[in-house]
Amino acid sequence: MRKRYLAPLLLSAMFFAACGGGEKKETNADSVSKHETPAADNSMVSPNADKPVSKGETLMAQSDCKTCHKEEMKVVGPALKDIAGKYPNTPENVDKLADKVIKGGSGNWGEVAMLPHPQVSKDDAKEMVSYILSLKH
Ligand code: HEC
Repeated sequence: MRKRYLAPLLLSAMFFAACGGGEKKETNADSVSKHETPAADNSMVSPNADKPVSKGETLMAQSDCKTCHKEEMKVVGPALKDIAGKYPNTPENVDKLADKVIKGGSGNWGEVAMLPHPQVSKDDAKEMVSYILSLKH
C-alpha cells in the first residue's frame, strides 16, 4: 500500500532533481570554461610539488604489494602499520628492508615468505619502505 504513495513522490523528486541538475550543469559549464586556463597552469605545477600521496605509496599501488599487505591488517604479509611499529624509520632499516623487498624471504614475521621483486629498483624499494615506516599507529 505504501509503495503506491511513494512511487509518484519518488518520480517527482527525480524529476525535480533532474531539472535542477540540468540547470546547474549549464552554469557550471560556463564557469569551468572561464577558469580553464588558470586550472591548466596549476596542474603543471602541483603534481610534482605538494601532492598528498607520497611516491612510495604510488609505487606500491603500481606493484603487487597490496595483494599481500594492507595498511591496517595482516593479510598474507604483515600490516604496513605493524611493520612501521617494528622498525624505527632509520636509513639503515630503510636500506635493509628495501633489500628484503627485492630479494623476498621469510623469518621475521613467520614461515610465509614474501615474493622477491627483482623488477623493483633499489631506489623505488627505498621509497616504498620509507612510506611504510612513516605509517605509525
Ligand atoms: C606474496 C605476498 C607478498 C607480496 C606480493 C609482498 N609482500 Fe611484503 N611481505 C610478505 C610476507 C609474507 C612478509 C613477512 C616476511 C617475513 O616473515 O620475514 C612480508 C614482509 C614485508 C616487509 C617487512 C620485512 C621484514 O623483514 O620485516 C616489508 C617492508 C614488505 N613486506 C614490503 C613489501 C613491498 C614494498 C611489496 C611490494 C613491492 C611487498 N612487500 C609485496 C608478503 C608479500
